[in-house]
Amino acid sequence: MLFKFILIQSVIIFSASAKSILDTRLQSYIKTFQLSSVEKPTGLNDVKYILGEKLFFDNELSGNRNISCSTCHDPKLGSGDALALPIGEGGEGIGESRVANSMKQVISRNSPPLYNLGHDKMSFLFWDGRVHYRKDWDVYNTPSEVLNGDYPERWDITEALGGALAAQALFPILDHSEMRGDKGSNEIANAKSDEDAWALLMKRLLSIDEYRELFSKAYPESEVLNIGHLGNALAHFQKHRFAVYDTPWDDYLRGKEESLNEKAKRGALVFFEGGLCIRCHNSTLLGGFAFEGVAAPQTGPGKDVKHNDEGRFLITKNEMDRYHFRVPPLRNVALTAPYFHSGAYETLDDVIEHYRNGSRAIDNYNGEWLDSLFNINYPEKLFVETNRYMIFKKKENAHPLISGQIIRMSDSQKNDLLYFLENSLTGSLRD
Ligand code: HEC
Ligand code: HEC
Repeated sequence: MLFKFILIQSVIIFSASAKSILDTRLQSYIKTFQLSSVEKPTGLNDVKYILGEKLFFDNELSGNRNISCSTCHDPKLGSGDALALPIGEGGEGIGESRVANSMKQVISRNSPPLYNLGHDKMSFLFWDGRVHYRKDWDVYNTPSEVLNGDYPERWDITEALGGALAAQALFPILDHSEMRGDKGSNEIANAKSDEDAWALLMKRLLSIDEYRELFSKAYPESEVLNIGHLGNALAHFQKHRFAVYDTPWDDYLRGKEESLNEKAKRGALVFFEGGLCIRCHNSTLLGGFAFEGVAAPQTGPGKDVKHNDEGRFLITKNEMDRYHFRVPPLRNVALTAPYFHSGAYETLDDVIEHYRNGSRAIDNYNGEWLDSLFNINYPEKLFVETNRYMIFKKKENAHPLISGQIIRMSDSQKNDLLYFLENSLTGSLRD
């Protein structure tokens, strides 16, 4: 009897200490890397939210009234479009059955998810960070000169914006392939400058009674409404609608050890240890501000006649930035396939295999799954870069962890990591 009691006791003690070894290790990484949970954003304003929501789903924002933000950022499709590369204005259908009638409608980069982009840490937007807001200086750097610098020419617009996410919203509507339409097809497309296009769009929206009313209710102190207000409303909606703060990982960070099971904890450890993911996917959002090169395969039209996309280099012209892209934040990553800037990978499993293979991954990249989208979504097979020299250049510009093939994990560690990414980083679904 006594013996049995001792045995039971020691089993209990043993399992309790096994659990706490995982927790101790995990918590020491959390401390070292100063990771914290995402909190629910505050300051919700119902009128701004309703206005932003209406704008987000409305085709009126596109020159030819045939596409909305939600076409490429569908809340039901992980705030993306489930396609390797999005199909812009003039395409037909939605989601996985959206069809391009010509290759001209195929956009060169994957639609990024919108999760947590209203978070304070998100000051660089787009894969290449071409929209940037410095909060401490209240200064924008964007593709539109009139918004940039200490004394922007259009301070009336920047004053209304309120952050990077609002500034970002001003650019899909200027892009001829995404929303504006071909020159000659409508007056917004024909506008001579960014400012004229924005003004024409605001004029169009404010001629609709419901918008006039919503805008003036949302911005009662502004006598003149401009495109900055539209950006602000769209950002307000996105910030609150796509905030992800209740994942098991966030609960764990708040001190609830039981919110992750052992497999998830082992997976989280791989994220810090063998996977070395934390070296780039760091801070609260596990990504979001640094630019790095991982020798990602290039598919689709790219940014020049050679279908090349040099990422951050196109913005900074700094050699160090060639083929570098913003490290994506990872909340809800299980919902946002396909992955990487050109949608090269179909699953999270493929992404982890990429890292396990280091720079060999791009040599052996298999674009067959993209071929299967030909005739379903795209009228031609998507281009896949196979030129040895171009591939060499990408490898040369990759991070040493990738070029040196330093990332290592066993198959069972990989399974745990996948489990962590799929289960622990996913928040509850909301309508
Ligand atoms: C035709 C598809 C399409 C439409 C329509 C579209 N987007 Fe996007 N969106 C994209 C693509 C592609 C990117 C990435 C482009 C890049 O990085 O060069 C992007 C980037 C973004 C980003 C930055 C994401 C990040 O992680 O930095 C936000 C925010 C966003 N879009 C919001 C919007 C809003 C708001 C609208 C409507 C005003 C809109 N989008 C319309 C395809 C689209
Ligand atoms: C050297 C820096 C670096 C390391 C290490 C790294 N990543 Fe990444 N990660 C990136 C960059 C940069 C991208 C975007 C690449 C692109 O699109 O060209 C990315 C993209 C991703 C994506 C795709 C997200 C999306 O929305 O498309 C996932 C998932 C991901 N990484 C997970 C991981 C995991 C898991 C690990 C560890 C095994 C890891 N990363 C290690 C820099 C890194």
